[in-house]
Amino acid sequence: MSTICVIGTGYVGLVTGTCLADMGNQVTCVDIIPEKIERLRRGILPIYEPGLEELVERNVQARRLHFTISYDEGLDNCDFIFVAVNTPTGTSQGGADMRYVESAARSIAEKLDHYAIIINKSTVPVGSGDVVSRIIRSNLKLPAIPFAVVSNPEFLREGSAVQDFQNPDRVVLGSTDQEAAHRVAQLYLPLRAPIVITDLYTAEMIKYASNAFLATKISFINEIAQICERLGADVKEVATGMGYDKRIGRAFLDAGLGYGGSCFPKDVRALAHMADEAGLHPQLLHAVMDINHDQRRLVVSKLIAILGSLRGCTIGVLGLAFKPNTDDMREAASVDIIRWVTSQGAIVHVYDPVASKTGREALEREGIRMEDICFCKNAYEVAEETDALLIVTEWNEFKSLNMLQIRNSMRRPVLIDGRNIYEADEMNRLGFIYRGMGRGTGPAPTVLPPGDTTGVLEQTQQETLGLEVSKQ
Ligand code: UGA
Repeated sequence: MSTICVIGTGYVGLVTGTCLADMGNQVTCVDIIPEKIERLRRGILPIYEPGLEELVERNVQARRLHFTISYDEGLDNCDFIFVAVNTPTGTSQGGADMRYVESAARSIAEKLDHYAIIINKSTVPVGSGDVVSRIIRSNLKLPAIPFAVVSNPEFLREGSAVQDFQNPDRVVLGSTDQEAAHRVAQLYLPLRAPIVITDLYTAEMIKYASNAFLATKISFINEIAQICERLGADVKEVATGMGYDKRIGRAFLDAGLGYGGSCFPKDVRALAHMADEAGLHPQLLHAVMDINHDQRRLVVSKLIAILGSLRGCTIGVLGLAFKPNTDDMREAASVDIIRWVTSQGAIVHVYDPVASKTGREALEREGIRMEDICFCKNAYEVAEETDALLIVTEWNEFKSLNMLQIRNSMRRPVLIDGRNIYEADEMNRLGFIYRGMGRGTGPAPTVLPPGDTTGVLEQTQQETLGLEVSKQ
C-alpha cells in the first residue's frame, strides 16, 4: 500500500485517484477550487463518467479516498504525487498552456518536506518534465529535499475511463531516474499490463504520437469516405474489409463527423506546433486537421444540397456531446454545425441524453442565438415538424428509434446520418431521403425547396425513394 497525492480533480485526476484507491492505496485528491472539493466530499462528481460515482463512494466509505484543498494535507507523508491538471491550447498557433502544470509544481515545491516521486499525467509538450524539475528545484522550501520526476501519460477515453484505467493496453513511464520509474511501475503491477520504461522525452512523445496517430486514422477514413461517396462505394464496408488486416485493425475507422473532445484537437494542434517551432513542416498533421474541419462542413452542404436554402427551415439535431457516454462538449461537432445551420436562417430542435445542460452552456458561450434553439425532451420531440434530422452523436438510444414514427412526424423526411448508424436501404424503404457519410449507395442529391414538397421530384425518383411527397 502506498500513500498517494493526486493534484487536480478533473477527469484524469479523479479517475486516476479513485482507481488507485480502489487498488488499496491511500489517496488524497487536491484541487484549488473549494466548491469542487466540497461537492466531491458530498459525493457529487464534476463530470459524468460511467461507474465512477459508485467507485468514489465505495473508496470514500472505505477511508482510502480523501478530498482536500490543502496541499499540506495532500502531501503529508505521501510517496507519490500525481499531477493531473489540464493543459489547454494556449497560443493562437496551438501550443499547450502550461500555466496550471507550472503552478502545481510551484505549490509542490513550497510544501514538500520529504522525498517523493512526482508523476506527470498531464499531456505536456516534449521536454516539460525538465521544466517541472527546474521549477520544483528552484522553489523548494527546504532545498536539500530530494525528489524525482516521472512522466506517465494517460490513455483513458472519456466514457470508458474507469474500464481503461483498470485494463490498460500498456503503461508508459519515462524518467532520467530509472529507479524512480521502476518504483512507479510497482504501483501498476496489479493491472498486469505491459509496462514501457523509457526516458522522459520519449514518454512525453509517446502520448502525442498515439493521439495524433488515432486522429490520423479518423481523418484517413473520412477522406476515403469522401472518395467512396463520389465513386459509389460504401465506407463502412471498406473499413470492415480493411480492419481484418491485423496490421491495420478496425478500431478508429468509423467515418463520420470527425474527432472532437478535449484531447485529439488540442494534441494534434500542439504536436504540429512543436514541429513548426522545431523548423519542421508537419504536412500530415495539418492535413489531418483540415480534413477534420471539412467533415463538419460537409453535413451542412448535404443539407443545403437537399433542402436548397435553410432559411425558415427547422432542423432537428440528435446529440450534442462530442461522443456518446459523456456530457463533454469540448470541440463538439454539434457546436459548429448548429452555428452554421442557424446562421443560414434555420431554427434548431435539439436533444442529448446527458449533455443538454453542458450543451446549452457551450452554445451560449459560443454566442449562438438561443432564441433559434429549442431543447427537446427526446428524439421524437426533436423530429416533430422538422425539415431534416441530423444525427450528430451516436448515442445507443438513437440506434433503435421508431424511424417510421419519426418520419411521419417530420415536415420533410430528410435524414442526414453523420455517424452512419442507419442503413440507407432501410431508411429509403421507410420513405426517408437518407444521406450517410461516405456511403455512395444512395441516389444522387435531390433538391427539395423549403415549404414545397410536391412536384419537385421526378416520378421515378419518388418511386426509388419511396417518398410520400404529398404528406403535408
Ligand atoms: C482520446 C484517446 O482515445 C485516449 O486514449 C486519450 O487518453 C485521450 O484522448 C486523452 O488524450 O486524454 P477521448 O478524447 O476520450 O480519448 O475520445 P475517443 O473515444 O478517442 O474519441 C475521440 C473523437 O474521435 C470523438 O469525437 C469520436 O467521435 C471520434 N472518433 C473516434 C471518430 O470519429 N471515429 C472513430 O472511429 C473513433
